[in-house]
Amino acid sequence: MIDSNVIKKDFPVLSRKFHGKEIIYLDSAATSQKPRSVIEAMSNYYENYNSNVHRGIYQLSEESTDIYEKTRENVASFVSCSARETVYVRNTTEALNLLAYSLGHRLRRGDRILLTEMEHHSNIIPWQFLKSKGVELDYVKMDADFNLDMEDYSEKLKKNPKIVSVTQCSNVLGTINPVKEMGSLAHERGSVFIVDGAQSVPHMPVSFRDLDCDFIAFSGHKMLGPMGIGCLVGKLEELKTMHPFLGGGDMIREVSYEGATWNDVPYKFEAGTPNVAGSVGLSAAVDYLRNIGMDSVMDHERLLIRETLKLAPEIEGLVSFGPSDPEKRGGVFSFNIGSMPAFRIERELEAGNMVVSGSVHPHDVAASLDQQSIAIRSGHHCAMPLMGRMDVAATSRASYYVYNSIEDVKNLFIALSDVKRLFAR
Ligand code: ALA
Repeated sequence: MIDSNVIKKDFPVLSRKFHGKEIIYLDSAATSQKPRSVIEAMSNYYENYNSNVHRGIYQLSEESTDIYEKTRENVASFVSCSARETVYVRNTTEALNLLAYSLGHRLRRGDRILLTEMEHHSNIIPWQFLKSKGVELDYVKMDADFNLDMEDYSEKLKKNPKIVSVTQCSNVLGTINPVKEMGSLAHERGSVFIVDGAQSVPHMPVSFRDLDCDFIAFSGHKMLGPMGIGCLVGKLEELKTMHPFLGGGDMIREVSYEGATWNDVPYKFEAGTPNVAGSVGLSAAVDYLRNIGMDSVMDHERLLIRETLKLAPEIEGLVSFGPSDPEKRGGVFSFNIGSMPAFRIERELEAGNMVVSGSVHPHDVAASLDQQSIAIRSGHHCAMPLMGRMDVAATSRASYYVYNSIEDVKNLFIALSDVKRLFAR
């Protein structure tokens, strides 16, 4: 069992006070906080080892290269893959852009890509770029309880998409999708299967070997690591045949004025000076999480979400978006206050009508909670198509991690009942 009050002490920023109160940070789906061990590992790298990698024939550079490659092994073992299958990128967004660009080379007019209605913009827009070459996109529907409609998935697979790309855990709904089963079904149809692991790898045990997928992408900053480092993990045979994404130093074998040949995987995809200190921070983050145990991380967040779903009905007019079964979701809680969706309130206000719906705009919810030193996110969460599908312009969202306690959840709901009193008379 996690003692989040002990864990919290490892995170310097969580002792900051706003409006006279210690911050309750409930926005880890946007970015997680960083433990002291991650911050110190990065300072230590810059103080003692900083030099470019794969280039210098001197000891400092050799040490730096060694450190960089050891971090790769450590991060790879965290998600059960090999170092050669692990490409360092900036974040999940870059990983998915890399895939759309490189795999896009193989696609022809009329080829299809299958996504879901609950994808983040990062797993929509890179694929939409391919529409200019005649590629068509389909989206798997959700059911009324915010789970993927697996019948619709099977139906849409019958169109033989070349690529299927799916989030393992929705950043808005918390829905955990059955990606293992989805991967097997996609492979039966010969599709390449991609998992967006931005919201899953930080929060539950994820094994690349066990999942029936070809690629998985994740970001360091959402898993206690620094911003600007993430991973694209891919099957070696796929990575070897793929076109490079960014061109530049380190990704080549031979270059002439006429052309070039490519370095081995994963370096073929790592053009330019990499984020070595970021890799050091990510590796330290992986150590921190491993020490807690990913099963414990998942169990802890489930405890928090169970408490959340228990307290939610006490706020009159609160509408939540996400599976009713806590076992099917991660530690993300999206909600609105009031029966009238923000979308319609805005329309009414624009038309000059008075609104007496008892609704509170998500930005007002977030701003009011901030007065209590509670940090949540409000807005479209980089998932505008999903907002449209739910007929809202925005939601408020609390998202949990290892440093959040049951007390934090209780304080959230105490503050929400104040919000309700203030705004929704
Ligand atoms: N994708 C991040 C979020 O959901 C930024 O907040």
